Amino acid sequence: MSRLRTLAAATAAFLSVLVGVHAVAQPPAAPRLATTLKPVAAFSRIADRRARSLALFAEVGKVVQHPRCLNCHPATERPTQTEAMHPHMPMVVRGDGGMGAPGLRCIACHHDRNVDSAGVPGNPKWSLAPVEMAWQGRTLGQICQQLKDPARNGGKTMPQMIDHMAHDELVGWGWHPGGKRVPAPGTQAQFGALFKAWADSGAYCPA
Ligand code: HEC
Ligand code: HEC
Repeated sequence: MSRLRTLAAATAAFLSVLVGVHAVAQPPAAPRLATTLKPVAAFSRIADRRARSLALFAEVGKVVQHPRCLNCHPATERPTQTEAMHPHMPMVVRGDGGMGAPGLRCIACHHDRNVDSAGVPGNPKWSLAPVEMAWQGRTLGQICQQLKDPARNGGKTMPQMIDHMAHDELVGWGWHPGGKRVPAPGTQAQFGALFKAWADSGAYCPA
């Protein structure tokens, strides 16, 4: 009897190891991506200025922390790809000015527009964001501080940052990524308006 029990326990342990291994082997669950943005007007009822600013930045974060943006703002030398943000295949690196290493420049594959037949996204300004603009692996609060810091945002003033978010064509690619890629939520114009409203309400950053 006790022999049987031992066997049963051993079998259960063996099975749980199998199940455990199986669970680890699963790809990480795809993050639930926002598809819409609330309009600025939806925040006007928040009377407290700081609370309103923080709520606006949380909305801004739905774009900034979207894989379409994060893939090009990595913390390592290598971009990432797809909604799952896996390492770029083939292996490419930032290189001089984010253009890739000599011999394997980004523009060898990425052209000035999306080429869906080849499955390659494109834009005239396609290159990797400099490492001081890395967003991957950072909290929304850390990214927020970074966006306000001219030493880490390309020397931009707040009005220049607002303009970049609302009008830069490489940022704009995020809403027209081509293929089956999930676009950033809302529209670039809505995003720019949210970012401006955040700046106008004191540009508070989450902890
Ligand atoms: C193909 C790569 C690529 C994609 C995609 C991309 N960026 Fe960037 N980003 C860059 C590069 C390169 C720079 C630096 C040059 C410049 O300022 O234009 C940059 C700079 C920035 C800056 C200014 C510096 C800073 O980090 O504060 C902001 C803001 C920014 N990107 C926002 C975005 C947002 C929002 C998205 C997604 C909607 C996005 N980017 C998608 C490559 C990319
Ligand atoms: C040898 C060809 C090749 C080179 C060189 C190359 N890429 Fe790519 N890249 C691709 C292909 C193909 C895809 C599409 C993969 C997919 O979506 O599954 C891609 C996708 C991407 C994506 C993902 C876009 C998204 O949000 O899903 C980013 C970011 C990117 N490349 C950045 C770069 C940067 C920056 C460089 C230069 C440093 C570069 N690539 C060089 C072929 C290349």
